[in-house]
Amino acid sequence: MTLYGVGLGPGDAGLVTVRGREVLQEAEVVYSPGRLSRSVATEHVPESRIGDLDFPMTRDEEELRAAWREAAAEIAPPARDGTVAFVTLGDPNVYSTFGHLRRTLDAFHPDVALEVVPGVSALTAFATALGVEVAAGSSIALREAARGAAPTGPDRMVLFKVTDAPATHAGLTEAGYEVTYGRRLFMEQGETLVTDDPTALDERDYYTLAYAERPEARVEQATDAETVSSIGKDLEELIPLTRRRPSTRRRPPARPSATPACTTTRPATTRRESPSSAPARATRGC
Ligand SMILES: C[S@@+](CC[C@H](N)C(=O)[O-])C[C@H]1O[C@@H](n2cnc3c(N)ncnc32)[C@H](O)[C@@H]1O
Repeated sequence: MTLYGVGLGPGDAGLVTVRGREVLQEAEVVYSPGRLSRSVATEHVPESRIGDLDFPMTRDEEELRAAWREAAAEIAPPARDGTVAFVTLGDPNVYSTFGHLRRTLDAFHPDVALEVVPGVSALTAFATALGVEVAAGSSIALREAARGAAPTGPDRMVLFKVTDAPATHAGLTEAGYEVTYGRRLFMEQGETLVTDDPTALDERDYYTLAYAERPEARVEQATDAETVSSIGKDLEELIPLTRRRPSTRRRPPARPSATPACTTTRPATTRRESPSSAPARATRGC
């Protein structure tokens, strides 16, 4: 039948898609390559249906190939006869272990049917969590910044695998970037942190990303507050020259402010939040 690669989203069980949840509930076995993806999957399926896969922590390509051949050999038989899922955090096609499985199945078990259910990737979730707008017409690049690397070039970058934030920060600011960091965004597992202070991230945590932007690359938008108010001033000057009419437009009554207004400004200081609540609170009402 089918092996589904299911994207679980960034780590909050509530951010699994409806389709992803349906597949998890239909699957006879849900294979998980790690502890975090397992903890999200178990919010949707009983532990008894989770199949753990062991992968060595190695960069040795031969050892990795052997581990994936073994995993594919375990997954292929139940996937031929029934519905099986392989889960990954984020999206299965963005920097994900699912690519290794797909290639290995294609090579050794080409008769297994494969389908992918996309998930909310950190690649897009960062924008909401960090209050960044990727406006139409702007470009943005994805790079890796492991072990203190500081890639430069594009005007806007999302950096994955920021494992040494202070070193990465030094390189990026020297090259003229402004940088904001996000750790464990939309995750239930661990503390969510959004900050532009790299010393707050001294402790290494693999689930850390950065958004780097050259300030001079910012494009003025037609609806920016300053642009809008300067248009307002121009109009005020014009009004005496035209027929003045009393304004009859009424503002709608202000809503009770149980929910804070949506803010899209970039955070200037460190925000530590209880797990999974930070991004949701930062954007409520958007
Ligand atoms: C191997 S990539 C996996 C990406 C994943 N497939 C996705 O689509 O989001 C892992 C990197 O993504 C980033 N990342 C993934 N989830 C994150 C989260 N919830 N908060 C912050 N960074 C995250 C981190 O930079 C981490 O090192």
